[in-house]
Amino acid sequence: MLKKTGIAALAALTLSSGGAFAAGASDWAYTKDYQFSFEGPFGAFDQAQLQRGLQVYTEICASCHGLQYVPLRTLSSDTGPGFTMDEVRAYAEQNYEVFDEELDDWRAATPTDHFPGSNLENAPDLSLMAKGRAGFHGPYGTGINQLVKGMGGAEYIASLLNGYTGETKEEAGTTFYENTAYPGRWIAMAPPLYGEDVDYADGHANTVEEQSKDVAAFLMWSAEPSMMDRKQAGLTGVLFLTVLSVLLYLTNKRIWAPIKKGNKTS
Ligand code: HEC
Repeated sequence: MLKKTGIAALAALTLSSGGAFAAGASDWAYTKDYQFSFEGPFGAFDQAQLQRGLQVYTEICASCHGLQYVPLRTLSSDTGPGFTMDEVRAYAEQNYEVFDEELDDWRAATPTDHFPGSNLENAPDLSLMAKGRAGFHGPYGTGINQLVKGMGGAEYIASLLNGYTGETKEEAGTTFYENTAYPGRWIAMAPPLYGEDVDYADGHANTVEEQSKDVAAFLMWSAEPSMMDRKQAGLTGVLFLTVLSVLLYLTNKRIWAPIKKGNKTS
């Protein structure tokens, strides 16, 4: 019985984490192991990088994609991009319009609104993309690379934006672009970045690779804004358990000390 359950669980694991991507894709999809500041137990988001990533998202990706699950006010989070509330208000107002049901009209977005959804029907919403694409790396979609190398959705997105080979093909009136990171090899998204697409205020290099890493980091944050809190809580937990173990060990020694002594003398 136990054996059977075990096999079923293993099968479910391999199937579910790989999903549509596992079959025949492993010989094609290539994800580069980029280094990100938020990797590892002590890693944290790099605020300047998140701000640059937001800029790439706003100026390039938002023309097709949406971030409909992300409230604009979270851009002021300390562990996120860390803008002031005034900056967030200005950003929302300048970049987005939302449809207000009460006014029955469009108005400029405010920090209490969410980012708009996708503009282009077949462009997926990117709110949770970095988490959605985190699990399938490694042999048979086991996600082993995520565990061992800390590779996840951010690496995938950066690799995807860097993975265009320049080859295209037409199918049923749609153009597909060859991409070394895309598990299906041919993606319907035209290369969105060509280098120097945005001008960074902090003078950071704006090559395709740097812009890709910045927007990938931003999308990692949007998919898991409380990652820093989670790490903090985990660390506190480990510390707490360590102290508790030491105390229990000492208590144990003390409780049994008279009996051990008694044994020795007898
Ligand atoms: C011209 C419109 C357009 C722009 C601009 C654009 N995308 Fe896309 N994107 C698409 C479409 C369409 C798809 C769906 C492709 C498919 O299913 O073959 C897509 C898919 C994706 C995916 C999902 C890939 C997967 O594994 O399924 C990611 C991630 C992505 N885009 C990121 C970005 C980022 C980041 C930017 C900005 C740098 C961006 N896109 C700019 C149209 C666009």
